[in-house]
Amino acid sequence: MDMTINTLITGADRGMGYELALELGLKGQYIYAGSRNLDRGQAAVAQLEAAGVQAQAVQLDVTNHESIVNAKERITANLDILINNAGIAVDHEAKPSELSLDAIRQDFNVNYFGLIDVTQVFLPLLKAAPAGRIINISSAVGSLTLASDASTSIHKLQASGYQASKAAVNMFTVKLAAELEGTPVTVNAVNPGWVDTSFGGGGGNRSVQVGVARTVELATSDALTDSGTFSDIDGIVPW
Ligand SMILES: NC(=O)c1ccc[n+]([C@@H]2O[C@H](COP(=O)([O-])OP(=O)(O)OC[C@H]3O[C@@H](n4cnc5c(N)ncnc54)[C@H](OP(=O)(O)O)[C@@H]3O)[C@@H](O)[C@H]2O)c1
Repeated sequence: MDMTINTLITGADRGMGYELALELGLKGQYIYAGSRNLDRGQAAVAQLEAAGVQAQAVQLDVTNHESIVNAKERITANLDILINNAGIAVDHEAKPSELSLDAIRQDFNVNYFGLIDVTQVFLPLLKAAPAGRIINISSAVGSLTLASDASTSIHKLQASGYQASKAAVNMFTVKLAAELEGTPVTVNAVNPGWVDTSFGGGGGNRSVQVGVARTVELATSDALTDSGTFSDIDGIVPW
């Protein structure tokens, strides 16, 4: 019996998605590297293979249902892990009273509706796995508790569209985890911290390696029982 763990990562062509592909691949997982642009995905896979990772590029635009369904057709093996990593923030520091609905919709289309569409399409494969895992890359800036606490930097942050989309991801995480209680499929949300990728103009205070550490832990721990949690490398993050 083939015991290889098969893992699909959305937005794997760069940033934390790429780092997750590299680290999980080096730990022996077979990587389906999702990317909305196939050329960029193939370039990433060439780099992964050069590093010794077994991977294949899969065109996957999370905002395009047909693209998601086609990606599923490409994945003929079992799927054990889905990492919903693709994300954008287009708020540009506009005040909540002025942020355009268009910007909010863009954030939600990728971060929330896209994440749900991908999850719904791949869930049957994850349910068929011995221990399916869904890991949603959320953000502490989506925490209502932290955003309403005047002592935090999140209180003042002007990214309410992005923040709401991550708060919504957290709710989806909790609700899907509750639906799947009693099954082997776990669903968890992770806060990577402020990570130095090109996301949001760059400048994060954590390396990508630190940013992905909690996700790597959830994707590789032997017997994962956590489900419906929101955590980072320091532990549980408040909702
Ligand atoms: N960096 C941070 O400080 C930070 C903090 C908290 C949470 N996060 C979250 O962590 C995740 C990864 O962020 P990152 O820092 O690695 O960002 P990044 O370097 O900007 O990478 C974002 C990835 O998402 C992909 N993507 C965007 N729209 C997509 C779509 N419609 N379909 C498929 N893929 C799409 C991008 O693909 P293209 O190359 O085609 O653009 C890229 O691969 C995101 O969910 C983000 O919200 C980041």
